[in-house]
Amino acid sequence: MTAPGAATDPTRVLVTGVRGKTGAPLAQLLAARPGVQVLGGSSDPATVTAEGVRPTAFSWDDPAGWPAAVEGIDAVYVVRPDRPDAPELIAALLDQVPHRAHVVLLSEQSAGDVDPQGWAVRAEQVVHDSGHSWTVLRPSWFMQVFTDPRFYLDLLISGGDLPFPDGGAHIAWIDARDIAAVAERALLEPGHAGLRYELTGPEALTLPRTAELLSRATGRPVVHQDVTVEEAVAGTAGFDRELLALTYHRVRGGSFATVTGTVEQVTGRPARTLGAFLDDIGPALRPAA
Ligand SMILES: NC(=O)c1ccc[n+]([C@@H]2O[C@H](COP(=O)([O-])OP(=O)(O)OC[C@H]3O[C@@H](n4cnc5c(N)ncnc54)[C@H](OP(=O)(O)O)[C@@H]3O)[C@@H](O)[C@H]2O)c1
Repeated sequence: MTAPGAATDPTRVLVTGVRGKTGAPLAQLLAARPGVQVLGGSSDPATVTAEGVRPTAFSWDDPAGWPAAVEGIDAVYVVRPDRPDAPELIAALLDQVPHRAHVVLLSEQSAGDVDPQGWAVRAEQVVHDSGHSWTVLRPSWFMQVFTDPRFYLDLLISGGDLPFPDGGAHIAWIDARDIAAVAERALLEPGHAGLRYELTGPEALTLPRTAELLSRATGRPVVHQDVTVEEAVAGTAGFDRELLALTYHRVRGGSFATVTGTVEQVTGRPARTLGAFLDDIGPALRPAA
């Protein structure tokens, strides 16, 4: 791989999911590096407006568009699509990726503990078997679920119950920007090939403590409710429901409670706390005085 900054061809990196929670900060970091050309993959490329990022049509539903998206790339960030055929889709995509390109896959914490033959493990296995050099990122729950309209943004805006079937377990919330910072290194620098990084924030919090911090940051009461998994997945269907239920059962089993120091080992600076994340976003969410 060409060293960033070298007076040769730029290092070309495709970031799938470039409008997503990790893809967006990753593209920003990559675009700031001299000698790196960033292709921002999206199923709706007209909406990719980040500075220094070239909008690139990339959809898991349109394999015919993949050859153009991966042409000449030196590295690719693959955001695992949460659908049943993810292992097959990732394998088919990597077949099209130039052999020299390094692959960084976004997976999930403790993916190997779920089921050795299961979906999450198979999605990682196809990367291992692809013939590319690879790095797998296994993060805990992202702090950005609190600013995602599909999850808890409404709660932050209006206050109220935080229904979460935790069974008293802890979660080592991670800031998606820290995942992006690790991905940036893994995509551009040597020393990360063949490694699986379990990525977490610096502390594991209970859900009542999480609710307390949300409440303090937003100035609205947020109260945790330890609902059942069935209640938490109400309104979802099919694979989404299966995956969400499995994930909540894993929360209850403590799969997202282990704290690692990997963010700091890889990036040289500590992972952000939930408090620091909320300090960043809280003021925008506080009721007007
Ligand atoms: N959220 C968490 O706390 C968490 C924790 C651990 C692991 N993970 C894993 O991380 C991955 C990302 O999850 P997320 O919730 O954070 O999602 P996200 O990255 O915030 O958003 C998903 C991305 O997928 C892209 N996308 C949607 N449809 C697409 C299509 N047909 N083809 C190509 N791209 C498409 C979207 O971009 P466009 O609409 O621009 O295409 C979007 O950028 C998932 O595998 C999830 O299981 C998440």
